[in-house]
Amino acid sequence: MRTGGVNEPKIAQNSMAQKKSLRIGVIGCGFMGRAHSNAYRRVSNFFDLSHEPVLQAACARDKSAALAFADRWGYASIETDWRKLVERGDIDAVDICVPSNLHCEIAVACAEAGKIVLCEKPLAMNFTEGETMCAAVEKAGVPNMVWYNYRRVPAVTMAKQLIDEGKLGRIFHYRANFLQDWTIAADLPQGGTALWRLDAAAAGSGVTGDLLAHCIDTALWLNGPMQDVSAMTETFVKERKHNLTGKVEAVGIDDACSFLCHFANGSLGLFESTRYARGHKALYTFEINGEHASLKWDLHDLHRLEYFDHRDEGRLRGWRSIHVSDHGGGQPYMDKWWVPGLQIGYEHSFVHQVADFLEALAQGQAAQPDFRTALATQRVCDSILASAQRRQWVMI
Ligand SMILES: NC(=O)c1ccc[n+]([C@@H]2O[C@H](COP(=O)([O-])OP(=O)(O)OC[C@H]3O[C@@H](n4cnc5c(N)ncnc54)[C@H](O)[C@@H]3O)[C@@H](O)[C@H]2O)c1
Repeated sequence: MRTGGVNEPKIAQNSMAQKKSLRIGVIGCGFMGRAHSNAYRRVSNFFDLSHEPVLQAACARDKSAALAFADRWGYASIETDWRKLVERGDIDAVDICVPSNLHCEIAVACAEAGKIVLCEKPLAMNFTEGETMCAAVEKAGVPNMVWYNYRRVPAVTMAKQLIDEGKLGRIFHYRANFLQDWTIAADLPQGGTALWRLDAAAAGSGVTGDLLAHCIDTALWLNGPMQDVSAMTETFVKERKHNLTGKVEAVGIDDACSFLCHFANGSLGLFESTRYARGHKALYTFEINGEHASLKWDLHDLHRLEYFDHRDEGRLRGWRSIHVSDHGGGQPYMDKWWVPGLQIGYEHSFVHQVADFLEALAQGQAAQPDFRTALATQRVCDSILASAQRRQWVMI
């Protein structure tokens, strides 16, 4: 690559001058810390935006872990106490990538410090905490967003477009699953990195808040509000050693959860999630059946949208498997990437979400889902757990 050409520095300065810096402080350097950092680094290479994310600070409790993370991803500095990061004058936006029990306290502190807040899902441990978070960001008037990233998988975004255009007609059924198999071993401990998901004190709930929350956010987005739920949950392994205390402790999370619901549009919902479906790693699927057409999607094959339209000419009628990679036909997001036919993956959903957030910020709008929108999913999760506990239908 040629460097030092006469015009090059000038071009670089001009393009930088047009962009506003958005200085990011990320709290939590695990799975989502990586996914988001990757998105911040790549977004300006592929999207034309007026804001440029600047990786200003990374926070982990362990100094060497924070330094290693900052070095790998290019953060300018580190903190080992999230409160210090939130107080810093050189941070515009705080990205909360820690377990759910910390979301509320950090988000409220960010709002009080006037920071933009990006928060991982689920919004909170429960509805009450979520409401506190909404009130804090609304009082402070700070932009906010929750990372329900599956909305930004192009095939899922396209499903939304097709439904909004009325292609399916009246919706009868919404069906979704999120199946995994990684917690079947009874000697797997609870607590600590990633395993905090098995500890109710850190996670709030099990598969309901972790996996079904994604299915619910997508469902509310695609098919509108739910009215009531009837749920069952099960904890298959009742006791596990706790990584932090070293003692065998009761497991308080739901290992599996299934629920039925009525949507306000009259359709029926059926949802299942478990971490005990041997062979399935992250099988998030949904299928929607309407009067004229049906569609289905599968995270394991995320660039495809399956579509059946009863109005097709009879001899050719059948399920189409649409490879959502052809922006020439108007398929979402794909004009930002490669040539038609070349697919993208999981990490791109986060790039898209950052891009949409920065676009909304430039226009003074709320990027979706914001805290208030994500609170609806929290309300459904709380209702599911209440229904399972009471063995009754619960109104939402
Ligand atoms: N959008 C998605 O698809 C998706 C996927 C996975 C996780 N998540 C959500 O992201 C959040 C984080 O999950 P993860 O998978 O990244 O977990 P993880 O265990 O990989 O990482 C969490 C990190 O937070 C750190 N941490 C804990 N307490 C801290 C504190 N006080 N200060 C600083 N760091 C602290 C841990 O050391 C760990 O490195 C959760 O809310 C989870 O539900 C969302």
